[in-house]
Amino acid sequence: MRRLGFALLVSVARAALDFESVLLTSEHTKALPAVDFAKGEGRLPRSGCKAWPGGKDWPSDFEWRLLNATVDGALLKPTPPSTVCYRGPNFNVDQCSYLLNNASTSDFWIEDPVTVLTPWTQGLTCMPALNATGNCTQGGFPVYVLNATTVKDIQAAVNYARNKNIRLIIKNTGHDFGGRSVGAGSLSIWTHNLDAFELIRGYKKGNYSGTAAHFGSGLQGWQLFNHMFLANLTIVGGGFRTIGANGGWMAGGGHGNLASFHGLAADQVLELHVVTADGRYVIADEEQNTDLFYALRGGGGSTYGVVTSAIVKTYPPATLTSSLLSIACNPPPDTNARARFAPIDNSTHFVNDTARFWDALHVYFRFKPAIVLAGGVDWDYLYPLGNNSYSFRTRITYPNASPTAAEALLKPLYDSLASAGFTFTLNRTELTPTPYAGTAITPVSPGSNGLQNTRYRSRLIPHSNFASDAIFNRTFAAIRSVTEEGGYTLHGLAIGPSPKAAGYPGITAAVHPAWRENVLHLAYMTVQPPNLTPKEAREEEDRANRFLKPLRDITKGTGSYINEGDPGEPDWQASFFGANYKGLLKIKRKRDPWGVFWAPTTVGSESWEVVTLDGYPRSQNGRLCRVEGGKGEWDGE
Ligand SMILES: Cc1cc2nc3c(=O)[nH]c(=O)nc-3n(C[C@H](O)[C@H](O)[C@H](O)COP(=O)(O)OP(=O)(O)OC[C@H]3O[C@@H](n4cnc5c(N)ncnc54)[C@H](O)[C@@H]3O)c2cc1C
Ligand SMILES: *[C@@H]1O[C@H](CO)[C@@H](O)[C@H](O)[C@H]1NC(C)=O
Ligand SMILES: *[C@@H]1O[C@H](CO)[C@@H](O)[C@H](O)[C@H]1NC(C)=O
Ligand SMILES: *[C@@H]1O[C@H](CO)[C@@H](O)[C@H](O)[C@H]1NC(C)=O
Ligand SMILES: *[C@@H]1O[C@H](CO)[C@@H](O)[C@H](O)[C@H]1NC(C)=O
Ligand SMILES: *[C@@H]1O[C@H](CO)[C@@H](O)[C@H](O)[C@H]1NC(C)=O
Ligand SMILES: *[C@@H]1O[C@H](CO)[C@@H](O)[C@H](O)[C@H]1NC(C)=O
Ligand SMILES: *[C@@H]1O[C@H](CO)[C@@H](O)[C@H](O)[C@H]1NC(C)=O
Ligand SMILES: *[C@@H]1O[C@H](CO)[C@@H](O)[C@H](O)[C@H]1NC(C)=O
Ligand SMILES: *[C@@H]1O[C@H](CO)[C@@H](O)[C@H](O)[C@H]1NC(C)=O
Ligand SMILES: *[C@@H]1O[C@H](CO)[C@@H](O)[C@H](O)[C@H]1NC(C)=O
Ligand SMILES: *[C@@H]1O[C@H](CO)[C@@H](O)[C@H](O)[C@H]1NC(C)=O
Ligand SMILES: *[C@@H]1O[C@H](CO)[C@@H](O)[C@H](O)[C@H]1NC(C)=O
Repeated sequence: MRRLGFALLVSVARAALDFESVLLTSEHTKALPAVDFAKGEGRLPRSGCKAWPGGKDWPSDFEWRLLNATVDGALLKPTPPSTVCYRGPNFNVDQCSYLLNNASTSDFWIEDPVTVLTPWTQGLTCMPALNATGNCTQGGFPVYVLNATTVKDIQAAVNYARNKNIRLIIKNTGHDFGGRSVGAGSLSIWTHNLDAFELIRGYKKGNYSGTAAHFGSGLQGWQLFNHMFLANLTIVGGGFRTIGANGGWMAGGGHGNLASFHGLAADQVLELHVVTADGRYVIADEEQNTDLFYALRGGGGSTYGVVTSAIVKTYPPATLTSSLLSIACNPPPDTNARARFAPIDNSTHFVNDTARFWDALHVYFRFKPAIVLAGGVDWDYLYPLGNNSYSFRTRITYPNASPTAAEALLKPLYDSLASAGFTFTLNRTELTPTPYAGTAITPVSPGSNGLQNTRYRSRLIPHSNFASDAIFNRTFAAIRSVTEEGGYTLHGLAIGPSPKAAGYPGITAAVHPAWRENVLHLAYMTVQPPNLTPKEAREEEDRANRFLKPLRDITKGTGSYINEGDPGEPDWQASFFGANYKGLLKIKRKRDPWGVFWAPTTVGSESWEVVTLDGYPRSQNGRLCRVEGGKGEWDGE
């Protein structure tokens, strides 16, 4: 068979998944020099832009057909799914209505080669709407998509993009909040179908010895959980089941229920298989390509290479005990609002005085360090509903704790609440692992009935902000004001991936150092309204930054979680990468001197900018150009 080309390296083949044994060889590069590997040193251009469709440097249809032949017909030229809502050859009222009324969960859209769940970053140029007016255009969606099923496909796409000066993007599930999986005028590597999985018994690497899981970059959380369920093993996975089990989630850190117990997703990694910017397929671990191994564990996706698969640690089966607590303050009479934001059940405590409501939250937030120190996490939402009405709901989860043990861990919280005059009934349930049937539902979609366009502003709050009542009170006042005065919904997660939790080899990963001291990852959420003018969008950013400033001031030196942070985060290099930025930038420049990989607020991204026609901030609907003369290059500490 053709797939066993002569460039196949023995050391690579040994540990590779099946799809990784199909490599780009000199047979292909001779037939099409445009997919040849990098030769010699790369250098970032001083100026200029990536090729643009219709421009003189954009490959002809014929040239694209040659690329398509090299990848055995896996090249797609997809139109946005919502073209069915617009007058033209694809117009179809029933299909449009289906998108609007039935396709309200992410599992539907994940099957689409271009769609992302945060369409404002794409330019909102083809939203589903009945009787849509105007035209549907490609906007920030890629022009071509490589439906990758082999490493060869990925190598060909990387080489083609580098040799032809084409903007390259990588899309996995499209869950990114910051527009990192879209890009106008681009070629996209779509990793969704790389869902191979293999269990490796008796895997040994460095200090690790045991069962490891090896999976392709397209695998989703729910699929990984199902594999582990069958194997009667535990693994670190994400909080939402349709996010990638690898991809951007792992590359940017990746948190979930076990994060305070076993660390972040990046902390689990023992070995990564990667196609680098020069087109080569390499293994990165503690002994080889150690710079990549470091950078790809927390230093961000879409920067140093395309990860094709990961080998990660597994654990004996864990039990989880979970506990709910909810407080409704003057719940609105509107039952729809209640159903959506303030589910009221037996665990709900009612208050009718906002001062008392904040008192209860003060007691609750004071307890957060104890949650992470016991290996637990919590996951809470605080919705400001207007007219002094609030809804707060939290779920605390302890791994490897029986219900009785969890009750003992929770007792101090309920005692503190009682002494502040709040009598809650302790609610806890032991969770037993269950397989997920067929699909996994995440109620997020770019259709009108799903949640969409959520914008997150994240802040990591360390133990030191809980060190005394005085500092905690000032911190809590800042936390409170963003919601009370700014009106922002708070999504707060107690997550403490301490050095002890990270263990081996996680402790050497490039995850933001602030995570190691962390108690609380706070994300303030808004929905980006669809019809904002560029000026209004800039005002929204300024407004958020104004309300977050007191919190940033009182948590100086920590940071923000890139995967749930805002692309408009001020001073993003320090916020998303902390003291690691300088070292990561060196790796980026060494590994990708051509600037093949680019996505907003990733390491080295300050060398380029997206030039939009309308100036809409952070939109990916524009041409990617070099920042003139190297101006704007990062020069911080
Ligand atoms: C509903 C929802 C729930 C979420 N829940 C959680 C949660 O519980 N915990 C958490 O930590 N985060 C969570 N997130 C945030 C999540 O971590 C990010 O959205 C993350 O970017 C998802 O990665 P992805 O690969 O699935 O998505 P994509 O949007 O497809 O990719 C994200 C980024 O990674 C790059 N990338 C993807 N694959 C590769 C690859 N193989 N090689 C190199 N680069 C690659 C892409 O180019 C892009 O820059 C959630 C997001 C959503 C929308
Ligand atoms: C690539 O080739 C396949 C198989 O011939 C074809 O179906 C597909 O449309 C081609 N892609 C493009 C972008 O032309
Ligand atoms: C779409 O949803 C509507 C309303 O829930 C339902 O009546 C209809 O059968 C669904 N259509 C399809 C094709 O699933
Ligand atoms: C869309 O147009 C049709 C006629 O073409 C009309 O019957 C219908 O009410 C319109 N729907 C909306 C939502 O405007
Ligand atoms: C839509 O496209 C048509 C044909 O290209 C053009 O005539 C028309 O002006 C466009 N409409 C809008 C609103 O841009
Ligand atoms: C992508 O490739 C897979 C595997 O060949 C195939 O099943 C799937 O239909 C393709 N997707 C698209 C949108 O072409
Ligand atoms: C799963 O593994 C645990 C210990 O690791 C064992 O006690 C249990 O019996 C196993 N369960 C099944 C169904 O194999
Ligand atoms: C709520 O409490 C009542 C009385 O204790 C009980 O009958 C009911 O089943 C509970 N409901 C839920 C959802 O727990
Ligand atoms: C507010 O709550 C308190 C205690 O629960 C109760 O005594 C009081 O009547 C309530 N006031 C109003 C206006 O509902
Ligand atoms: C607040 O109350 C006023 C008067 O009852 C009402 O008109 C308004 O809609 C309410 N606002 C919200 C956000 O519920
Ligand atoms: C805890 O809360 C959940 C969700 O509201 C409910 O289903 C369950 O019955 C409650 N358990 C106890 C022991 O109250
Ligand atoms: C902190 O706030 C709590 C609740 O408002 C208050 O009881 C306590 O006295 C405050 N402590 C300090 C040191 O400010
Ligand atoms: C791992 O092994 C190295 C030696 O190879 C040793 O220095 C280190 O302490 C070990 N780390 C852990 C966490 O066991």
